Amino acid sequence: MGKILVLYHSSSGNTAKMAQLIAEGAEAIPGCLVRIRSVEAASADDVVWCDGLAVGSPTNMGILSWQMKRFWDDAMRPHWMKVDGKIGCAFSSSGGWGGGNELACQSILTVLMNFGFLVFGVTDYAAKMTTAHYGAVAAREPRTPDVQAACRLLGRRLAEWVAVFVDRRAEEHPLQKLESRMMPGKEG
Ligand SMILES: Cc1cc2nc3c(=O)[nH]c(=O)nc-3n(C[C@H](O)[C@H](O)[C@H](O)COP(=O)(O)O)c2cc1C
Repeated sequence: MGKILVLYHSSSGNTAKMAQLIAEGAEAIPGCLVRIRSVEAASADDVVWCDGLAVGSPTNMGILSWQMKRFWDDAMRPHWMKVDGKIGCAFSSSGGWGGGNELACQSILTVLMNFGFLVFGVTDYAAKMTTAHYGAVAAREPRTPDVQAACRLLGRRLAEWVAVFVDRRAEEHPLQKLESRMMPGKEG
């Protein structure tokens, strides 16, 4: 059974709300276990446990927060070269659109790549003009249905990749489910 961890840092609750939605999306794929942990409550064992990991942070000066960076610097450092091959993705809440939330996602993905994670983005549109190509992003809390859908889609895709590559469940491959993939952004 594929194991999913949603790991987040959140100072004022916005990224935490995204984390809940991402966990919800992952739970939509049957046959996976989903664990959600704040960075304060998480341990390296949680990361070692999982097959797929979604990491979320508030956008802080265009990158991940120091609290999330410290987790990888300190708690995870002894596990470098021991967690290769897990599947990873990112999400971030910023103060506003244009505030660097995709850059923050990229900085999270860079950390994950350094640890040997296989990182991905989502090609589908979650809603009209809403994607998660570099991870799920929100301005402040995930208030609108389209942003909420992008968070759920990221979690769902993480669980699908874990089902395909860890549990060898080829039927969960997104390309096998083309009819259920949403492309509302293509409507013009
Ligand atoms: C130290 C610090 C740096 C920040 N840097 C940015 C930034 O570069 N761009 C931005 O849009 N918002 C920035 N913000 C705002 C937060 O990203 C935003 O309030 C976010 O929604 C907080 O998420 P949280 O509730 O999960 O802590 C910053 C906030 C703090 C405290």
